[in-house]
Amino acid sequence: MEKIRVELAERSYDIVIGSDILRGIGDNLKSFGLSPRIAIVSNPTVFSLYGKCVSDSVKKAGFDLLTVTIPDGEEYKDLLWVQHIYDELLKHKLDRSSALIALGGGVIGDITGFAASTYMRGISYIQVPTTLLAQVDSSVGGKTGVNHKLGKNMIGTFWQPRLVWIDVETLKTLPKKELLAGLAEVIKYGVIWDEKLFDFLGVNKNKILSLDRDALTHIIKRSCEIKAEVVSRDERESGLRVILNYGHTTGHAIETVTEYKKYLHGEAVAIGMCLEARLSSMLTFIDNNKVLRIKSLVESYGLPSEMPADIDIRHILSSMELDKKAVAGELKFILPEKIGSVRIYRGVDNKMIKKLLQEQAFEK
Ligand code: NAD
Ligand code: GLY
Repeated sequence: MEKIRVELAERSYDIVIGSDILRGIGDNLKSFGLSPRIAIVSNPTVFSLYGKCVSDSVKKAGFDLLTVTIPDGEEYKDLLWVQHIYDELLKHKLDRSSALIALGGGVIGDITGFAASTYMRGISYIQVPTTLLAQVDSSVGGKTGVNHKLGKNMIGTFWQPRLVWIDVETLKTLPKKELLAGLAEVIKYGVIWDEKLFDFLGVNKNKILSLDRDALTHIIKRSCEIKAEVVSRDERESGLRVILNYGHTTGHAIETVTEYKKYLHGEAVAIGMCLEARLSSMLTFIDNNKVLRIKSLVESYGLPSEMPADIDIRHILSSMELDKKAVAGELKFILPEKIGSVRIYRGVDNKMIKKLLQEQAFEK
């Protein structure tokens, strides 16, 4: 088992990574001083696979367990379903020392964390992420939230979990497309922070795609270490943490323009990373051969690397324009300078983005 500490003074916690460790979670809750009544929040897809194992372990450790399920899908990550969680917790008399266990992907983690942060002014929660994206990104760092009809993740809090419990075996049941979307975020960590991780992804592609336990444990551990380091230095995204958004400025515009239907988040980020690396080279911050290395790693995992031809560049520009307004007139781009290091850059104007997108359309 691997253990990583997220250092945040009195809000510090462990990320535990292992294989076949779900059944061990109950015993690890005993030291948190929780009341005996706790709840697991999941969706039917994940609960049918792993719910019994986690529930048995928690009950065996002496807890009285409530199960709350919400339907499977991003469209249920909203205040209506938070209300449903509150209803169940109140009906079953969960108190201020109770805890929630989030068993599932990022959707379950985000909504459970949000419910935990607001129920009775904030109770404990434990992340048990079961998608690669949740294991390397959303379960760590304490961003919780739900969607509003006017925008994704518009309602939320910073609320750190007490523990993140990652069982790599859960990835065996994850659809391949979801695995690849998670790998885009791992590639992101390589580009922004760690050339060795980037190289490892290139050399060990076959092992990773065949779910080799050691290779998966390595990339998850390294990703969590990087995220833990960044979050420890800047919990509330007032500076450094923004580098985790490499690929996301463009990726987000692509998701918005395609109405969240064409790409999974990680796929849009993969395109975003390639375009933003190209942008960096246009600004002479990075050599073109490194841009090609990023693109070729992305493509080797079967992830998209280019904006699809049917997307109207004007829509991308106006989506970025809207984002710009939302962040007080300034869009930040995270631009790689080499593999393993990025800079935060604010000087990108519309003309430059247009040139980038048009160049790509022309190259095709
Ligand atoms: P998800 O939670 O929707 O999971 C993807 C699909 O996989 C779902 O159908 C789910 O039921 C299924 N699934 C989960 N684990 C499984 C398993 N082991 N076997 C089989 N099926 C399984 O999607 P996601 O990509 O994990 O998370 C996306 C969400 O995460 C978005 O809402 C996004 O906003 C959020 N997010 C949050 C942060 C953060 O810092 N809080 C960071 C990145 C993304
Ligand atoms: N997913 C980016 C962050 O947690 O800051």
